[in-house]
Amino acid sequence: MTTLIRAENLVKKFGDFIAVDGISFEIEEGECFGFLGPNGAGKTTTIRMIHCVSPLTSGTITVAGLPASVDNRAIKAMTGVIPQEITLDIDLTVRENLMVFSRFFDIPRREARTRVDELLAFVELETKRNSKIDQLSTGMKRRLLVARALLNRPRLIIADEPTTGLDPQARHLIWQRLRQLKAQGTTVILTTQYMDEAQQICDRLVVMDKGKIFKEGVPNRLIEDEIGREVVEIRIGMEEDARLIAELGGAACGHERVGDTLYFYCRDGHDIRKRLVDLDLPAVVHRPATLEDVFLKLTGRSLVE
Ligand SMILES: Nc1ncnc2c1ncn2[C@@H]1O[C@H](COP(=O)(O)OP(=O)(O)OP(=O)(O)O)[C@@H](O)[C@H]1O
Ligand SMILES: [Mg+2]
Repeated sequence: MTTLIRAENLVKKFGDFIAVDGISFEIEEGECFGFLGPNGAGKTTTIRMIHCVSPLTSGTITVAGLPASVDNRAIKAMTGVIPQEITLDIDLTVRENLMVFSRFFDIPRREARTRVDELLAFVELETKRNSKIDQLSTGMKRRLLVARALLNRPRLIIADEPTTGLDPQARHLIWQRLRQLKAQGTTVILTTQYMDEAQQICDRLVVMDKGKIFKEGVPNRLIEDEIGREVVEIRIGMEEDARLIAELGGAACGHERVGDTLYFYCRDGHDIRKRLVDLDLPAVVHRPATLEDVFLKLTGRSLVE
């Protein structure tokens, strides 16, 4: 595999505030790489530096060997960005939004028309081609942003929280499209606060918080290494912890208290759940471990506050 993006000791300051605090990472051509982290972690700030709209305070980024300095046209030409904010021109129709955007890349008109038709089909918006933006649902607007990001046939797609606020069906459609692009060889960078989303589409990811990367790896491996396979949650008062943990002493599970919940992290949670049910405890939840558990364990906080 070849490395498409290489970032070393990347720092971004806004005045005295350090939004990105000396992070390093490498993204391989053709993979889907995720930045997972809560609000304010520094995800958007990081990717804005990658696609050359925000200057680095210090450190380096290269994309395909080129330095990511502000307005590097070669990098912009090979990149498609699905921004976190919905930035569509509300005075134009769906189709016109795409046609106008195609001019930024100097795509000839006839070619642009063909691509716009193809892309409207790709995101299932053909029937809305002549609708104004305010006649679209949020999910449709996000799909239009996906189509817009693909106009220049990019080698790299950057999707900044592309499914925030969408219903499950709309989320799945966007996930499918991102996977389809990856299958065609496109490199995908995804930022998200949703661990299920990261698990669904990322080959590798970094977990960020407060401008720093504190974990990196393959989603399932991170879960396996940090948590195990299963989680049993019990909603009980903290004063019960010691007694319960002693009572379950034989179970080969790690445990942790976060807020109103006592968590047991296990290879197999069936045994422990059965014993908890026998003890007649309220609200016992038994489920597969997720990236949320990794985040919770490492920070003591939940990803979505
Ligand atoms: N232009 C700016 N001026 C000052 N501070 C900024 C600016 N842009 C971002 N920040 C700050 O930098 C930090 C990181 O912001 P960023 O938008 O990168 O977070 P994020 O991980 O994308 O969060 P979210 O999930 O909410 O989108 C935040 O504390 C934010 O307030
Ligand atoms: Mg953001």
